[in-house]
Amino acid sequence: MNDLKLEAAKAAVKFIKPHQIIGLGTGSTIAHLVTLAAADDELATSVTFTSSSFKTTAMLAKNGLRVMAPALLSRLDIYFDGCDQFDKQLNALKSGGGIHTTEKILASMADEFMLIGDAGKYTDKLDTTYPLVIEVLPAALQIVLKRLAADFPDAQINQRISNQKDGAVISDNGNMLVDVFFAELLPLDELNIKVKMIPGIVEHSLFYAMATKAIIAGENGVRVIEA
Ligand code: 5RP
Repeated sequence: MNDLKLEAAKAAVKFIKPHQIIGLGTGSTIAHLVTLAAADDELATSVTFTSSSFKTTAMLAKNGLRVMAPALLSRLDIYFDGCDQFDKQLNALKSGGGIHTTEKILASMADEFMLIGDAGKYTDKLDTTYPLVIEVLPAALQIVLKRLAADFPDAQINQRISNQKDGAVISDNGNMLVDVFFAELLPLDELNIKVKMIPGIVEHSLFYAMATKAIIAGENGVRVIEA
């Protein structure tokens, strides 16, 4: 069996043109994309990269690629990122790593936001397999937990704590992370706004109507779909 993530990354690198400014998220698919870009002399010497994650930034630098901090940029040609799950409209759930806030900032800067991944992540409709991850200002933690419990009485709401096995406990921005496991998802347009409007919430991990394309690798090959 082919490595589907590698196949998706091979298709993704073909979208990058010399001299572009490219944003990258994180994960194993993005790691393949870094390696492929570094192996292409023209891209490696002319493209400027930025990333939403420290891990990918370090990998870009280690591979000799030009990296700039997101704070120095206001526009990207393309932002590529993986996700946990995405639907036909290219809405995506992300962020085991708790870095969705910077990911969303980079996605919003980009002319194109392309999701890349294997076909296992593609679903007709987002479901409750993954939590909605919420980044919360420390001072607002208790009131946000209270508001979430009141607004979503059927959801399981877990503040990430130090003995947890997977995922960051504190975000790269020094904020708290809360995982919300819904019994059922609200309509996504409603969920997107309702959570975002709670004071103290910096950002949540539903990427609603943001991606422009998805590159999906399956056993029958790679396809690109548009939002
Ligand atoms: C981070 C993410 C990652 O992009 C996603 O988990 C990466 O997956 P993979 O390792 O399969 O490429 O959503 O917020």
